[in-house]
Amino acid sequence: MGVFVAARHQPESEIATVAVAARTDLAFQQCIDPACGATFSVDEVLTSCPSCGNLLDITYDWDRLPVPTSFEVFERKWMRRSDPLAFSGVWRFHDLLPFAPREAVVTIGEGQTLLSVSDGVGGYVGMKPGRLHLQYEGLNPSGSFKDNGMLAAFSHARMIGARRAACASTGNTSASLAVYCAVTRLMRGIIFIGSGKISYGKLSQALDYGALTIQIAGDFDDAMARVKEVAGKLGIYLVNSVNPFRLEGQKTIMFRVLESLGWEVPDWIVVPGGNLGNSSSFGKAFAELRHLGLIDRVPRLAVINAAGANTLYELYHNRGLRWEGGRADLAPACHYYDELDREQKRADTLASAIEINRPVNLNKCLRALEVCDGVVREVSEQEILDAKAQVGAGGLGCEPASAASVAGARKLVAEGVIGRDDRVVCILTGHQLKDPNATVAYHTTDQKLFNDVLGSRGVSRASFANRAVSVGNRFDEIAQAIELYG
Ligand code: F0G
Repeated sequence: MGVFVAARHQPESEIATVAVAARTDLAFQQCIDPACGATFSVDEVLTSCPSCGNLLDITYDWDRLPVPTSFEVFERKWMRRSDPLAFSGVWRFHDLLPFAPREAVVTIGEGQTLLSVSDGVGGYVGMKPGRLHLQYEGLNPSGSFKDNGMLAAFSHARMIGARRAACASTGNTSASLAVYCAVTRLMRGIIFIGSGKISYGKLSQALDYGALTIQIAGDFDDAMARVKEVAGKLGIYLVNSVNPFRLEGQKTIMFRVLESLGWEVPDWIVVPGGNLGNSSSFGKAFAELRHLGLIDRVPRLAVINAAGANTLYELYHNRGLRWEGGRADLAPACHYYDELDREQKRADTLASAIEINRPVNLNKCLRALEVCDGVVREVSEQEILDAKAQVGAGGLGCEPASAASVAGARKLVAEGVIGRDDRVVCILTGHQLKDPNATVAYHTTDQKLFNDVLGSRGVSRASFANRAVSVGNRFDEIAQAIELYG
């Protein structure tokens, strides 16, 4: 599917929604702090509340919008998939994120992703057959879940006439921005990455797709702070997940999970936590579906940190920080960040996508954890890589950060928090090819390579390694190897 950037043939059934969505009084930006609750037009470019500094949501006047009364509406759209907006796995659900008029909408065919049962991985996790599902977001055009949110932010950027868009990234957000810029040619992409902190698979995407790539001395947390300043001062549109439109697009990951489950709500959603955009948007998706009467219960949410980047685990699990209906005392978070500064502690994990110590969406994630009766766990590098090897052996390879969800599910089953018979969905956020170094080092016979890449990070064994067999270039040796191992 090629790029679709404007509505020329507007199907009649869309007209009502689109006309309404174009009225900005029905969709607006709103401060998530209930004590503030300030609202702003969707035409404004904001990444925090100008009144109190908190994060912003996109909210809708659902009572005045033509909201579907059943999920069938979305199924019928699939029958019209020659229309790019019905084909897009994001815009198919436009009625549930109606902030943009149709003429502003961009799609490159994102969201054609897969939910599949994996008994192999399920067995490893400790689940009964048929209960563990993997939502494979690596199938998106840029190879990660980011495309779901990027096109929503990108569409908003287009709606307000932006010509340049920027992000800080551990690699996937930047790859996604770069793809949307390259395919649509609507904007110049400017990406900020921490020096040496991005896997080659992701860096190669940004370079290939022609984004202006600014490598700064520092890590993601530094890059994030800097891009906010630069974007603000230079008037560049920011597409990180502090952008509330990003998270609207990411809600559709949950809509597609439900769609694949015949609109039945699973018991658990398990997701890796980095900047905490996904978890935040999942919570919002379920809160809205329940409000609209489309579901009658929400699943529980498990957010999994890497132990080397475990701010949420530390604050939520260990220090008891809660959203408290929006009355949270966030002082523990400030103290924790001061501690990190004092101890000069930096995020450090092989799961480079989630190597983040200052998650920008912390408050929203706390809210999502409240909505979904959530839990937070941390997993070690060893647990991540073993889980990743199991996912790979099941055929849907993922990058290390994604495997944190599977490692976390396994931990929660062992603890008895997740039941062996529960219906569980682990989100595989990024494609296996994003970070081949960790994979090759795990499976290698070269002890030095193993030690350099993994041993130095505390990984001591590769229990599920599939080692290459070295033979001379001779028929009999090769035949013997096949007899022995084939
Ligand atoms: N998994 C992958 C593959 C990611 O790339 C990210 C985040 C996450 C999980 C964490 O998701 O931030 O919503 O909690 N990557 C960002 C980036 C930070 O720049 O690509 P989150």
